[in-house]
Amino acid sequence: MSKEDLITGLDLGTTKISAIIAEVNEKSEINIVGVGTTPSYGLRRGVVVNLDKTVQGIRQAVGEAELMAGVKVNNVVVGIAGDHIKSFNSRGVIAVSRTEEGISNEDIKRVIEQAKAVTIPMDRKIIHVLPQDYTVDDQTGIKEPVGMAGVRLEAEVHVVTAAITAIQNIVKSIERANLAIRNIVLQPYASSFAVLDEEEKELGVCLLDVGGGTTDFSIFFEGSIRHTSVVGLGGVNITNDIAIGLRTPRAQAEEIKKRYGAALSSLVDTNETMEVPGVGGRKKREVSRQILASIIEPRIEEVFSLVEREIKRSGFDDRLTAGIVLTGGTAKMEGIEQLAERIFDLPVKVGVPKGIVGLTDAVSDPVHAAGIGLIVYGYKHRDEEGFFERKAGLLDRFIRRVVNWFKSI
Ligand SMILES: Nc1ncnc2c1ncn2[C@@H]1O[C@H](COP(=O)(O)OP(=O)(O)OP(=O)(O)O)[C@@H](O)[C@H]1O
Ligand SMILES: [Mg+2]
Repeated sequence: MSKEDLITGLDLGTTKISAIIAEVNEKSEINIVGVGTTPSYGLRRGVVVNLDKTVQGIRQAVGEAELMAGVKVNNVVVGIAGDHIKSFNSRGVIAVSRTEEGISNEDIKRVIEQAKAVTIPMDRKIIHVLPQDYTVDDQTGIKEPVGMAGVRLEAEVHVVTAAITAIQNIVKSIERANLAIRNIVLQPYASSFAVLDEEEKELGVCLLDVGGGTTDFSIFFEGSIRHTSVVGLGGVNITNDIAIGLRTPRAQAEEIKKRYGAALSSLVDTNETMEVPGVGGRKKREVSRQILASIIEPRIEEVFSLVEREIKRSGFDDRLTAGIVLTGGTAKMEGIEQLAERIFDLPVKVGVPKGIVGLTDAVSDPVHAAGIGLIVYGYKHRDEEGFFERKAGLLDRFIRRVVNWFKSI
């Protein structure tokens, strides 16, 4: 296996860091060859707050994945999340340069540049400019304008920005772990590559990742991303509620949540009970599962209601024909689909990564949607020069070109 064909997705989560290594095989399939997951202690609500602990976590996760795959990783495609992420739609207009030959790739570049030429605050940086639709002269809703005849080209784009400090801390953590960055990708956008299909994105769908520290979502309609947003609440808040509500240590609350938790108290049999350890040596008690569910339900309801309000605000609420797709660890909670259906009044399903081969068992989990999505993103953008690639990578790139040239003859 050549190093050139390896793509590693690094998901820096609030509760876990996971590294997934894939090899692109001869059939152009994404073959999962290594997975490493370790608890995360250096992030809060999706953002690096402790560099050393994050570096340690990255080393651990990548090391485990390398061991499993029997390869050495040099660079990663990393996700970025947190409630510092902001997005807005923008538009650019240009005059097409050489009208006889139709619209060229250069024109597309130019119109995108134009669309992103908006003033953003000094402390923020654009991480994505994602084209939605083009208008050629008066013809709207065009997806592929290259080659078309026209004199005026207009582009509508979705611009995603992040706090510069949040980006810098991700870059620092990865560099200190002796890795290079191939791409930095908005996490809910990355996940969409792993769990959504083209038809869902065409019809209208909301991808909702309920993680540990954050809940983020992105809306797709007519094949393009239309809206993204982040709520700073997630599974960690549920665990804290349980620890307080049942007066039990947090570690036990986490275990109880995963084992007995349910998002809808009406789904739980009233006679089911479980053992709850006390704090500071206090006796354990029998508690009904329904009480546990009645602690969980209002918190998830709160999160979903915040999301629903934001979806309404986006104006896409009546365009989500394909409904909601849930990912992230909290999506594994029993009854969460039913609760989501009740709140959003839309069809809901849990999204599991698809379109991959190899160690699929290890990653067929809504938790790994981001990690796998990062790989797919990296694969789709493999020919682009990494925006965040190190300067020292020039030699690398030269070698890669020579190797590719040899391969092609
Ligand atoms: N079976 C389960 N039932 C309920 N919750 C679960 C289950 N398994 C995991 N979780 C919860 O999922 C959360 C972790 O999810 P995930 O790994 O997607 O988050 P993360 O990526 O670490 O965080 P974030 O994306 O918010 O930065 C934890 O709060 C964990 O308790
Ligand atoms: Mg996550």
